[in-house]
Amino acid sequence: MTLNDVANLTEHEAAAELARLAREIAHHDRLYYQQDAPEITDAEYDELRRHNAAIEARFPELIRPDSPSERIGGGAPEGGFAKLRHRVPMLSLDNAMDTEEFTEFCARARRFVGLPADAPLDFVAEPKIDGLSINLTYEKGRFVHGATRGDGTEGEDVTANLRTMKSVPARLKGHAPALIEIRGEVFMTKSDFLAMNEAQAAAGQKVFANPRNAAAGSLRQLDASITAGRPLSLFAYAMGEASEQVAQTHWEYLERLGHWGFQVNPLSKRVQGEAAAAKFQATIAAERSGLGYDIDGVVYKLNDLALQRRLGFVGRAPRWAIAWKFPAEQAMTVLKEIRVQVGRTGALTPVARLEPVNVGGVLVQNATLHNEDDIKRKDIRIGDTVVLQRAGDVIPQIVSVVPERRPRGAKPYHFPDRCPACGSQAVRPPGEAVRRCTGGLICPAQRVERLIHFVSRPAFDIDGLGEKTIREFFDEGWLHSPADLFRLPAREAEIAEREGWGKVSARNLSRAIEARRRISLDRFIYALGVRRIGDANAKLLARHYGTYDHWRAQMLAATVVGSEAREELGSIVGIGPAIAQELADFFAEHRNVEALDELTRVLTVEAAARVTAVAGSEIAGKTLVFTGTMETMTRPEAKARAEALGAKVTDSVSKKTDLVIVGADAGSKARKAVELGVKTITEAEWRELSAS
Ligand code: IVH
Repeated sequence: MTLNDVANLTEHEAAAELARLAREIAHHDRLYYQQDAPEITDAEYDELRRHNAAIEARFPELIRPDSPSERIGGGAPEGGFAKLRHRVPMLSLDNAMDTEEFTEFCARARRFVGLPADAPLDFVAEPKIDGLSINLTYEKGRFVHGATRGDGTEGEDVTANLRTMKSVPARLKGHAPALIEIRGEVFMTKSDFLAMNEAQAAAGQKVFANPRNAAAGSLRQLDASITAGRPLSLFAYAMGEASEQVAQTHWEYLERLGHWGFQVNPLSKRVQGEAAAAKFQATIAAERSGLGYDIDGVVYKLNDLALQRRLGFVGRAPRWAIAWKFPAEQAMTVLKEIRVQVGRTGALTPVARLEPVNVGGVLVQNATLHNEDDIKRKDIRIGDTVVLQRAGDVIPQIVSVVPERRPRGAKPYHFPDRCPACGSQAVRPPGEAVRRCTGGLICPAQRVERLIHFVSRPAFDIDGLGEKTIREFFDEGWLHSPADLFRLPAREAEIAEREGWGKVSARNLSRAIEARRRISLDRFIYALGVRRIGDANAKLLARHYGTYDHWRAQMLAATVVGSEAREELGSIVGIGPAIAQELADFFAEHRNVEALDELTRVLTVEAAARVTAVAGSEIAGKTLVFTGTMETMTRPEAKARAEALGAKVTDSVSKKTDLVIVGADAGSKARKAVELGVKTITEAEWRELSAS
């Protein structure tokens, strides 16, 4: 149809044509924006839009509510949902696997706050449902928005979807604080899950693997009317930000949640003391299979909220709560072969190839064997019948062998002392469990693994460059270093000719690569694949150092043990000396620095917002020294508190010290502070100062 034809359209024909165009343009938007897989050229696409506009100009009364001219681009952004920042981060929980680990958790908590070893601890126990956690924000008692956990700092804005759930109250009943964040778990019951899957299958729609996936998939729908039709449930169980104190104990808080109109798991129970906790654990384990929903353990939270505040957090988990998991599901099968894989950092990992077997509803054919000592200790031999177990989403592991079923002539397994990929020596530093290939950058396995890591989701996240493609291009000899990835667009024509490719997908790949020539500092740092620098640590580094140039300079300086830069690195909360060592080792290798410089010649690394201090705290950014005996808190507690407020705690007093907290019987450090004119305060003053 040409523009001329538009002039001849009847109103009826125009309406039909607009409806068709709205559908067609939305379809191409989806392909382009969400799947990066357009089917038509940009010119053809523009023509469709022009056509739509021409008809609308002639028949303005026919403009549809879903008209493409009302929308820019694909409607939903790339990731689908807008991002929402949690006012208080959403953390995870440490696990205990048995009574011993639970007892150890209790002992740690007591030690941290200086309670006697036999002090009884009061807990609230809540079954741990494996769903997805969400954060609901209420202002003046009204539900204003809700988000998924995401990376813990920010999640996806799923407000519209949450509003469709009966168990998310639109208003809180009774008195509510001006502002409160309420957290809980969205899940699907087993029977709802089965019924929904049946209906989905009957309608030829996607079926879900387990209730957790079904709940997540149902909540994360761009069209909230789909969520409305899905049977989602919610149990509320935690709090984030609150403008006023709403309870003294967690139990009281759960009661308030109930009064406000939330569902709280009715199996939640106050348990006093460790023995009562162990008893509750056994009771729930016995009831587990009869419950209407899947659980994988019980969460124990210290009931006293004042105690919770004192205990605070370590890393990403609270010191005042633990998830006591149930034992994993087990099965038996035959070990066919042991393959040794070489990881990104050269670690040799043995992987078991198994006779396929069903473990707790999942078909398993591979399992991890951890390391060479583990194989030796369990005396695992090829041909053995082994006991396999799966704990949550973790890769299954081999627990033990069944000696009675060992085939005659089976020989003990010898771990290779050479890298199976490059033949270099594989060595085990004293005291370490892992044998590593010494081939470094000459080892093709390490190189390819680094590249795969480099383009992975939390790193450069290049669409169309998955593990398989990287291996393929690597084998072709196109990729020697990460910078070579940015030379792939120059091979677009060659790529288009390859089997499984074509013009469109090759062009999309080039676009996806070009789009990543600008990258945030944290993603960039993560992408380098330095040992122990996961995405959380990469974020810490990016926030601390701000710009790439500053980071690079500081890391080079930190290669010198005892340097100021090294001290600074090791004292970033969450980094510590061991991780500082890894970074220093990375930067001490000149080939790594060369690879970095080669990369930054072809990309722009964006600066991060520098956060060196916690806003609002007087001691943020200050250097503190504690000396003498503290009477109302232990040293670790005081230190953790100071660090949480953005201060740095050191051991010795110098001109650079801002403040010395003087406890009872303080000696030389307190004197030195006076000599140097450094401000000193008492423990009571410190409590006052840090209570804010
Ligand atoms: S409390 C800081 N309570 O477990 C406290 N979490 O491993 C953090 N979960 O992300 C969470 N039931 O998805 C808490 N009764 C419960 C829970 C629970 C399930 C999940 C939640 C969280 C994960 C932590």
